[in-house]
Amino acid sequence: MKKLIPIITLIFLFVQCKENSTKNTQNNKILGFVADSAMVVSAREEASKIGVAILQKGGNAFDAMVATELALCVAYPFAGNIGGGGFMVYRTNDGKTGALDYREKAPLAASKNMYLDENGDVIKGKSTLGSMAIGIPGTVDGLFKVHEKFGTLPISELIQPVIDLANKGVIVTKKQEDRLAKYRHFFSEVNDTQIILDAEWKEGDTIKYLNLAKTLERIRDNGRDGFYKGKTAEMLVNYVQKIGGIITKKDLDNYEAKWRTPIEFTYKDLKITSMSPPSSGGICDAQIFKALEPYDISTYGHNSVKSIQLIAEAERRAFADRSFYLGDPDFVQIPIDTLISASYVQKRMEDFSWDKATLSSSISHGNIAGYESDETTHYSIIDSYGNAISATTTLNGAYGSKVYVSEGGFMLNNEMDDFSSKPGEPNMFGLIGAEANSIEPGKRMLSSMTPTIVEKNNKLFMAVGSPGGSTIITSVMQTILNVYEFNFGMQEAVDAPRFHHQWLPDVVTLEPKGFDSILVEKLKAKGYKINQENSRILGKVDAILVLPNGQLEGGADYRGDDKAAGF
Ligand code: DON
Repeated sequence: MKKLIPIITLIFLFVQCKENSTKNTQNNKILGFVADSAMVVSAREEASKIGVAILQKGGNAFDAMVATELALCVAYPFAGNIGGGGFMVYRTNDGKTGALDYREKAPLAASKNMYLDENGDVIKGKSTLGSMAIGIPGTVDGLFKVHEKFGTLPISELIQPVIDLANKGVIVTKKQEDRLAKYRHFFSEVNDTQIILDAEWKEGDTIKYLNLAKTLERIRDNGRDGFYKGKTAEMLVNYVQKIGGIITKKDLDNYEAKWRTPIEFTYKDLKITSMSPPSSGGICDAQIFKALEPYDISTYGHNSVKSIQLIAEAERRAFADRSFYLGDPDFVQIPIDTLISASYVQKRMEDFSWDKATLSSSISHGNIAGYESDETTHYSIIDSYGNAISATTTLNGAYGSKVYVSEGGFMLNNEMDDFSSKPGEPNMFGLIGAEANSIEPGKRMLSSMTPTIVEKNNKLFMAVGSPGGSTIITSVMQTILNVYEFNFGMQEAVDAPRFHHQWLPDVVTLEPKGFDSILVEKLKAKGYKINQENSRILGKVDAILVLPNGQLEGGADYRGDDKAAGF
């Protein structure tokens, strides 16, 4: 094993050189980082490079996924996780598509009203902060499912570079310094000892994650049981229970990631494959694209009044359906085929007017006859064999529940907040849910994560995804439109200013500084309420585009420390 380390270091140097020397243009477009045959784009350079090193050794995109995802846990503790969960959509080089759900589940002791007080009111913070907010993590089981089905290199070779990174340490960036300063006080509020992240870390400092390295060794040596059983499981359960949580060993032992059939739909001559429930991402984006399809949006201009209006109205209707119909498909019946059909969606758009904004209060979910009823991270990988994966993975809020299993070196999620604690009560993304997304033991909470793969003329075209809660859905959709309708390069499409509407609250959120005041006034005149000052970042997209000559262009979002690497 030791012999591998220098080889991987050499590969890093090569990848670095290639990156620094590249300045690309094609058809007069300035492109982002371009590679000839393989690429990883993720939230941290260290993770992208570890993934690329695996690809360079001959591993495929699935092997690289295992390494990249675990490396994000080390290099990007803000969202990278073994204490969280996610979704992955893939397309193999023979055109087969599929999806993996490694979303967290509610603990067996969870109950519908667990976040309500005796008056039936939501107890502030209980679903977001501390031990009661935690869902049963799915990431490690998910990665082993991927490796079992598609992996080609031994798991130890995929995990070892990550263990080495944890032992060597990761350099704090300016953005990380700012985030840690912002969230630090929560760490001491929630944990009973001082955690490693709870110090005055400054840009340029190196944080070593020695306990995490040991946990990764147990996973390397014992497989999924290295996390869900034995020492790690004991550390997790003992600590969570000690600070008042309800997670048991049985919860961990029972956890299973699931292969799912992805949502597939066409938009003009694109075929789009995206995540199915328990994520809402694929269905919502299918609805939005189907609503836009009859219009020649490319002639309206990028981020023009007309295109913002049309897209916002499509988003408004899709999010209204999301809140009523969507939840864990293992618990609720979802009329997927109808929801994503052109006829249903276009009927929902019949009352759209170019003159005036539709009021969200006048919109509800559509009627379907016969129906009974700040943090995440995304990475995209394409290997030199032509396989593509798109994976979004999360702790939910920034540093999740802020509960840190110090002995094991990892943070735990606060994914329980993605359930609807009470009908009509917004969660931390302002999303409203109904019965379909109510809490039940062992149920998965509804997500907005939208890992997506796009084909054009039956060929791989793009792998794309984003963090950003509810804004994930609209960020992914706008990035695809930017490339396909407005002819942007991948980096340009990722960097372009974004906007967002989610039905309730009835407001169009615009990225600060991205939209001029004349445009804003025109939208207001049509009745749109605008939020530009206090808007959060709208997504942080990491994507790869297959260029006409077969090369790959990365889009690594400038809004974070994101980085493309490849060869
Ligand atoms: O699954 C979801 O939709 C959320 N838990 C995602 C959270 C997220 O994207 C936070 N990042 N900014």
